[in-house]
This record gives sequence, structure tokens and C-alpha cells, in this order.
Amino acid sequence: MPLTRDIYERMTPSMQKMTLFGKVVIVTGGARGLGNHMARACVEAGAKALIIFDANQELGDESAAELHRLTGNTIPVEFFKVDVRDGGAIEDAVKAVVDKYGAPDVLINSAGIADSNIPAETYDHVMFRRLIDINLTGSFLMSQTVGKAMMAAGKPGSIVLVASMSGSIVNYPQEQSCYNASKAGVIQFGKSLGAEWAKYNIRVNCISPGYMDTALNNVPALDAQKVIWKSLTPQNRLGAVDDLNGLAIYLGSDASGFMTGTQVIIDGGYTCY
Ligand SMILES: NC(=O)c1ccc[n+]([C@@H]2O[C@H](COP(=O)([O-])OP(=O)(O)OC[C@H]3O[C@@H](n4cnc5c(N)ncnc54)[C@H](O)[C@@H]3O)[C@@H](O)[C@H]2O)c1
Repeated sequence: MPLTRDIYERMTPSMQKMTLFGKVVIVTGGARGLGNHMARACVEAGAKALIIFDANQELGDESAAELHRLTGNTIPVEFFKVDVRDGGAIEDAVKAVVDKYGAPDVLINSAGIADSNIPAETYDHVMFRRLIDINLTGSFLMSQTVGKAMMAAGKPGSIVLVASMSGSIVNYPQEQSCYNASKAGVIQFGKSLGAEWAKYNIRVNCISPGYMDTALNNVPALDAQKVIWKSLTPQNRLGAVDDLNGLAIYLGSDASGFMTGTQVIIDGGYTCY
């Protein structure tokens, strides 16, 4: 399953640039869902080590073991239990990665949560703060610690933040002001960081998915709304759990070397209307 040196060396220069050959990759939220599928894709694309940071110990252990098995046990795949709100845990885990594999080349920050169908007038402020803390402050803490490790190693790097189309549009019909605000924050944070860190050769870009068919949306209360979401999506479907993979590899790879501070929306056309 992983890209071997033999195959890499037979690729054309443009195709070689589109791989992650030899890169150390950290994926947060990689225990399941979109992060897990992007992690798999990174291994297929040649990552030399794949490290999952996630708050879910059980799923994290399982997914790392499964991915390691899928590589034929040829690529190191490691899991660290990290809550992206916890700066100390992030620092310890990133240090452990640097000591073992060298500074990371790519960070994909997919850890995130969603609250929906909560009108702003009844939104509990503790829940509001929790979501901002995970989605926005977590993006900052992960980027800062991984960015500093890249800088210390004098390595170019690529940071990919998973935002959402909800950072640019207001979803219908469910009310979810906090989620939307958190993702707008991630997009603007990524843009600011892309500008600030260009001098260190660290690129920062966002992937902004539309509605995706993951466990996050697998809630019976959302079934009726999914019909509306699809009807508002030109492709008339939710995104598949692996629909971000190609873009994640591209943004992590040297093929996107002139891209920074931007977001790419993957939404089946939702934002066309
Ligand atoms: N599913 C969608 O429709 C959709 C659309 C747009 C954006 N997104 C974004 O994509 C990302 C991934 O979503 P998904 O659908 O794969 O969700 P998911 O719930 O399937 O996976 C999220 C992962 O993040 C982990 N996580 C949650 N809180 C964490 C924390 N505090 N610290 C560390 N890990 C934590 C979870 O354990 C889980 O493994 C999220 O940022 C989400 O906002 C999803």
C-alpha cells in the first residue's frame, strides 16, 4: 500500500512533486472520519512516518494499529493521546515525534467538533467556549508547536487546517452560529499565519469541506435536514469520507509550493447557489 522508493524513482518529476515521499506527517483527529482517511492517503503518498494525535485513546490505538498493518508493517504509524486544547500535551507529543522521526514536514489538523441546531439565544456559554477552544484554539496550539519544531529544524513545512464551508456561508436550515464562527476564525487564522510564516518557508492553507458523510453527521436528528442539504448541493450528495484525500496530499506536497494563506472549498458545489 505505501509508495515505495522503487515506484517513486520511476515517477515523472511532476508526479514525484505530488507525493509526500520521505515526509514526517502529523494528523490530528486521525482516529476516525476525514482525518483518518487523510492519514491513510498520506501513507499511500509516501510519508516516512505517520503520527496520529487524537483525544480518543481507544479509537486512536485501533486506527494506528490498523493503518500500520495496512502498510505491511513497513511504515511507522504511531498514536499519541492528545487533546488539542492541551498545550502541554501537544508540546510533549511533538517533542517525542521530533526525537524519534525528526521535525514534522506536514501537519494536517482535522480534530474538531460540531454543535448544530442550537439557536444563539439558548446557546450555553460553556458549550460555546468549548467548541471555540477545540476548533479554533486547538488549530492555533497545534500550528504553533509544530511550526516552532519546523523552524527549529530550519525545514520548510506545510500546515493544512481543516476548516469548513461554514466559515464562509451560513448553513440552512440548522442554527449553528458557534461552529460557523469557529471555522471563520480558522480560515482567517490560516490566512494570517500563511503571511506571517512565509519567511520561514512554512505554508498554511485550509481545506473547507461542505457536508460530508461522516459520524459527525450520523445523528438521527439530522436525517430530515440531510435531505435539504443534498437538495442544496448541485451534486445532490454528501461528500464521501475520502473526498478530501487528494487535496490533503496536494497541499502537503511540494506541488503546492506557491500556495499559502488560502482555503480550498470541497463541497459538491454547495456554495455555487
Ligand atoms: N463531516 C462534515 O460534514 C464536516 C464538514 C466540514 C468540516 N468538517 C470538519 O472536518 C473535521 C473532521 O470532521 P469529521 O467529520 O471527520 O469528524 P469526526 O467526529 O468523525 O472525527 C473527528 C476526530 O477528532 C477527534 N477530536 C475531537 N475533539 C478532539 C480534541 N479536543 N482533541 C483531539 N482530537 C479531538 C475525535 O476523537 C475524532 O477522532 C472537523 O474539524 C470538522 O469540523 C466536517
